[in-house]
Amino acid sequence: MSQNISKEKVISLKGVSKFFDGRKIIDNVNFDIYSGETFVIMGCSGSGKSTLLRLMTGIIKPDEGNIFIRGKDISRIDIEELDQIRKSFGMLFQYSALLDSLTVDENVALPLREHTKLDENIIRIIVKMKLSLVGLRGFESYYPSKISGGMRKRVGLARAIALDPYVVFYDEPTSGLDPVVGGVIDKLIKDLSAKLLITSVVVTHDMQSVFRIADRVAMVHQGSIVKVGTPEEIKNSDNEYIKQFINGLPEGPIDFFTEDVDLFEEFGK
Ligand SMILES: Nc1ncnc2c1ncn2[C@@H]1O[C@H](COP(=O)(O)OP(=O)(O)OP(=O)(O)O)[C@@H](O)[C@H]1O
Ligand SMILES: [Mg+2]
Repeated sequence: MSQNISKEKVISLKGVSKFFDGRKIIDNVNFDIYSGETFVIMGCSGSGKSTLLRLMTGIIKPDEGNIFIRGKDISRIDIEELDQIRKSFGMLFQYSALLDSLTVDENVALPLREHTKLDENIIRIIVKMKLSLVGLRGFESYYPSKISGGMRKRVGLARAIALDPYVVFYDEPTSGLDPVVGGVIDKLIKDLSAKLLITSVVVTHDMQSVFRIADRVAMVHQGSIVKVGTPEEIKNSDNEYIKQFINGLPEGPIDFFTEDVDLFEEFGK
């Protein structure tokens, strides 16, 4: 476990539920995330991981329950106050949207130009610093279409830390990357947390990644938390959902054919 973890709660979810089109997508979720830890949310596709991130970052509001960021209930505040809090968040989205018309350094500078009144010279220095933290010095003038997928993720990461956030949210940071590049991104997430004392919240279904980076893991299934524990506790859990998920077993309680899709009914005739 990393040395930087304190008992200060950065994020607390209390009885959080969210409905979409009458369906309960997030169901009475409770957990706390502590300062300095890497908290991983794992679960199958459609289990509600990205929705949890969108709730924690205030992009959407819960229908039930409360979400506290450093003790402040973000589900009950106005947009100006929320914007203020969100300036200290870094976000790396699932389909890390870099702007193709901007160069690498312009992409990283974007939040600095949007949210600060810093001098151009200072912005240029900060951008260089952030790019060296992710190992991309020298690529400032490249366009996103001219660099690899792993490099694009790193640019997204440099952009996510541009405003010196105390918490960074990552949605599937290693998806679509080969295992080696995925390993590089995982190492970066750990390094940045340690060097910059950042709390990291990482959504993933990449099992290798879970056990490489997590201080604690939450397993989510159909919008509910099955268990929160250390990687060791998750590995040794005898919960059938967790065993099926971490071992990638086709047989078990996780039903991949959801209630509204019956392939045999649809195509089998
Ligand atoms: N805005 C929305 N409107 C309606 N349904 C939604 C909305 N956002 C998410 N959902 C539904 O909520 C469920 C959970 O979606 P979510 O994107 O959180 O899953 P996920 O665990 O991130 O999946 P993946 O691993 O595929 O990214 C899905 O059934 C999805 O269709
Ligand atoms: Mg998702």
